[in-house]
Amino acid sequence: MAKRVLVSGGAGYIGSHVSVELIEAGYDVVVADNLSNCDMTCFEGVKKITGREDIPFIKMDFCDIKAVENLFDEFKIDAVIHFAAFKAVGESVAEPIMYYKNNLESFMNLIQVAHGHGGCNVLFSSSATVYGEPDELPVTEKSPRQSATSPYGNTKQICEDILRDSVNAYVTGDSTVHIGSDRPGPIKGIALRYFNPIGAHPSALIGELPRGVPNNLVPFITQTAIGKRDCLNIFGNDYPTPDGTCQRDYIDVVDLAKAHVHAVRRMLEGKMENDYEVFNVGTGKPLSVLELVKAFEKVNGLSLNYKFAPRRPGDVVAIWADPTLANEKLGWKAERTTEQTLASAWAWEKHLADK
Ligand code: UFG
Repeated sequence: MAKRVLVSGGAGYIGSHVSVELIEAGYDVVVADNLSNCDMTCFEGVKKITGREDIPFIKMDFCDIKAVENLFDEFKIDAVIHFAAFKAVGESVAEPIMYYKNNLESFMNLIQVAHGHGGCNVLFSSSATVYGEPDELPVTEKSPRQSATSPYGNTKQICEDILRDSVNAYVTGDSTVHIGSDRPGPIKGIALRYFNPIGAHPSALIGELPRGVPNNLVPFITQTAIGKRDCLNIFGNDYPTPDGTCQRDYIDVVDLAKAHVHAVRRMLEGKMENDYEVFNVGTGKPLSVLELVKAFEKVNGLSLNYKFAPRRPGDVVAIWADPTLANEKLGWKAERTTEQTLASAWAWEKHLADK
């Protein structure tokens, strides 16, 4: 029988791409989402792409522990990938308690219930933000984590720690204290640290759906190109980088989704070398904001209205991954080119405009 993977926050941008790749790799998927930051567009897209009308969708909030218990009572879950979280850096600075409550409570509920239901493999969606402004580039998993510069970033660090500590405490499944649990079992965990996920599925049926004005670069670019925004502001051109604009490691969302399938397989097939593991998920190649804008213009044959603007507070100058560990241990490598990715982002924006 196919193993079943719960995707919390599975109706969102990354969760929907991961659901597609899991189903295409032969897993059963249960999607759970409270739709607080998305609608059903991407979930409908997942069904279309995979030809699977029967994917269970549960509208629920992981902060509601009763709902999490009901979910684990109803489905036998072999692994869970946890995306359900708030993710806007600026909003987290304005509303820290909302972020800590939502992002921490939902994850703790999930682990507690999973532990109480015979144990589970837990994959946490972490972020390169845990490295802050790195002293050395590229960053490896051994690079030190830096103090978070936003509550959002802090929730990523704390959730990594919650997972690590739970794995250590519950690894045998027979620890003596079990909060609300009559069938305790071990937790194993992987944290994937994403660099900058961009692009959309090649079908253009799923992609990023920012609410309001996008914070992130690529949705702002595509919305400017389609005419929804007048002009892209490039935040800072006086950074100590080759062209003065910030450098990032932009990872195609389909490549990123595939990394999850490799990580889930590693957990389910008992291939983990430690019960808690961390992997960088990036391309290993830095790209500056200006290089990305130029590549977008070139591959899509258009000219973008942009101007240089002051630096954005909180931005790191440059960060990119050393993805060697993921390449070697997960057997995964980013494959899509920047051109393919930027063409897919534009195709998705046009698809939205046609709707
Ligand atoms: N940028 C612009 N103009 C824009 C938007 C972004 O010039 O309108 C620049 C930023 O200054 C930055 C680069 O594009 O140099 C990338 O910015 P994004 O907002 O797309 O991505 P970040 O690297 O800032 O964000 C990432 C993750 C977040 C994470 C954050 C931590 O997407 O989840 O790093 O700083 F929290």
